[in-house]
Amino acid sequence: MKILVLHGPNLNLLGTREPEIYGRTTLAEIDAELVERGRRAGAVVETFQSNIEGELVGRIQAARGDADAIIINPAAYTHTSVAVRDALEAVALPAVEVHLSNLHRREPFRRESMTAPACVGTIMGFGARSYSLALDAILGVLGKA
Ligand code: DQA
Repeated sequence: MKILVLHGPNLNLLGTREPEIYGRTTLAEIDAELVERGRRAGAVVETFQSNIEGELVGRIQAARGDADAIIINPAAYTHTSVAVRDALEAVALPAVEVHLSNLHRREPFRRESMTAPACVGTIMGFGARSYSLALDAILGVLGKA
């Protein structure tokens, strides 16, 4: 079983980027935790971060026939990207959307997600823990938790 974890723009800066909003955990720490949790559940977790929309679309497309599910934090593309949403719908793999912050407590423009309708569900507001919760959720969807 393989789960692809995708991180969108600026998430490479986690740890130092607006820590009062996003916390002090680095992306490398988040990825390591997911790989280890996945291993314990019998799943291979592959992670990928990009600041480029087309690279994220490419990885989603390549997941068809390669991964069983997707966990995605589209970051700013959450609010704008028809291309990421269409890619998720095209590959038709179960996906969970993740956000570190609670978008409903922030600026109004963050309340709209272009990508969430292409996902089984969304987890937000728990900082780095949102990712672990998303992994549990997707393992449940796959019947492995
Ligand atoms: C984010 C929320 C987005 O609005 C923002 O653009 C991000 C991070 C989050 O994880 O809370 O870059 O996706």
